[in-house]
Amino acid sequence: MVMRVSTVAFEGIEARAVDVQVQISSGTVAFTIVGLPDKAVAESRERVRSALIASGLALPAKRITVNLAPADLPKEGSHYDLPIALGVMAAIDAIPGDALNGFTVLGELALDGSITSVAGVLPAAMAAVERQHGLICPEACGSEAAWASSELDILAPRSLIQLANHFKGTQVMSRPEPAIMPSSNALPDLRDIKGQESAKRTLEIAAAGGHNLIMSGPPGAGKSMLAQRLPSILPPLSPRELLEVSMIQSVAGLLANGALSNRRPFRAPHHSASMAALVGGGLNARPGEASLAHHGVLFLDELPEFQPQVLDSLRQPLETGEILIARANHRVTYPSRFQLIAAMNPCRCGQGTEPGYVCRRQPNERCIAQYQARLSGPLLDRIDLAIEVPAVTAADLILPPPEEGSAQVAARVAAARNLQEKRYALLAERGITTNAACPPALLEEVAQPDSDGLSLIRDAANAMRLSARGFHRVLKVGRTLADLDGEERVRRIHVAEALSYRAHTDRRSAA
Ligand SMILES: Nc1ncnc2c1ncn2[C@@H]1O[C@H](COP(=O)(O)OP(=O)(O)OP(=O)(O)O)[C@@H](O)[C@H]1O
Ligand SMILES: [Mg+2]
Repeated sequence: MVMRVSTVAFEGIEARAVDVQVQISSGTVAFTIVGLPDKAVAESRERVRSALIASGLALPAKRITVNLAPADLPKEGSHYDLPIALGVMAAIDAIPGDALNGFTVLGELALDGSITSVAGVLPAAMAAVERQHGLICPEACGSEAAWASSELDILAPRSLIQLANHFKGTQVMSRPEPAIMPSSNALPDLRDIKGQESAKRTLEIAAAGGHNLIMSGPPGAGKSMLAQRLPSILPPLSPRELLEVSMIQSVAGLLANGALSNRRPFRAPHHSASMAALVGGGLNARPGEASLAHHGVLFLDELPEFQPQVLDSLRQPLETGEILIARANHRVTYPSRFQLIAAMNPCRCGQGTEPGYVCRRQPNERCIAQYQARLSGPLLDRIDLAIEVPAVTAADLILPPPEEGSAQVAARVAAARNLQEKRYALLAERGITTNAACPPALLEEVAQPDSDGLSLIRDAANAMRLSARGFHRVLKVGRTLADLDGEERVRRIHVAEALSYRAHTDRRSAA
């Protein structure tokens, strides 16, 4: 007789249904797993054998065959241990044969029979809800699974014995509760930054509209400091965003103790990052930093120090909001709608744009041009806001701390974001909540400037030779500025300010 247990295989954040079939037949004593397993799955045999023995169940001296169907879907990871073990237990009558009907099962086994946590429990739980199944997962992941739906039937056992007792009715388990990570550690506050008023204003605009921002300035001007304070003014994740972000973290195995956090992700990879680390990939096509920053911030400090190819690999996700990783045997898509914040020095000496400074090796212009040539024009074209952050003066530094801190700025940002959410919900644009993500076709409807603004942008587009994308990005920033002012229409002053943030980009790509 063949025992069947449902489990999943991950393709990106999608959990595809996989059937684990276990057959015990007479013949040579053997334990084989077939159905395109990778190394971790093949090793599962040894873990299952030891865990069953540790739980007081000896494997029958017969031929055990495990098939993972469909056979053409690659099976990666260690979460097949538990479904295989339960299939074997059902086949030898250690648990009732029908106990596993209507359950999706995943979990890794330790040699002593305990069930250890695995990545991907949240997407598996969502898939179980869709299939109208219950879920059996490791105890440590129970609270993560509970987020999928309040109706989902969840069994989160500590060990094989506990689960067997539950099925026998001797020790009934209770449903785990969804847990939220306490956001105890306070974020750094904007109040720490003295002076730099215009840079702070730009940071607020970036936060309000979800715009990409590049800051250029001499060492020690406070660029890294500014970027690190962006999370303190961003609104918390909405429930739908929270689930999307957590699904990616779950697949990457980053959810500590199954608790979700409603803080926006802030990822700051070092400039030595490889392509696979940034956009995802590697052996199991894991999500990269760009996907882990979904609905949050990807901060690239010292931008020109990144490898140019690695930076250019961000061009696709910056435009489409997702990353497609193609492998010989399958392809996976990860969502990656992140906000790019970049910081850089104007040249290798770092001070090229400071008044009166002479670069050590060559004329300032050449030093600047050489350093900035590492950034491609198309990448810069995708950045809405470009500003120069000048060095802070001693006069600024001795001033008392500014009155306004992150809390006040966050309130204005939240108000502007509310307006945007309402606008895009009214237009029935699914998944769009910020001006930065607004599709160009819709811009004419939502961000059409008044007649004064229109003539200004027409003249400027010609004079600055704006690309079509540049033109649209100016409209988007203009829309955000109007939202920050609480205005219905984009006016000339909004267009003018939006254009000023574009000027640096165009100068730079011309260099
Ligand atoms: N506006 C400011 N107000 C208060 N302190 C500041 C300010 N700007 C810089 N500092 C101080 O200078 C230090 C360096 O700042 P930061 O690391 O942000 O500089 P940076 O612009 O990123 O420089 P680099 O280009 O070398 O990375 C900060 O830790 C802080 O102590
Ligand atoms: Mg820095």
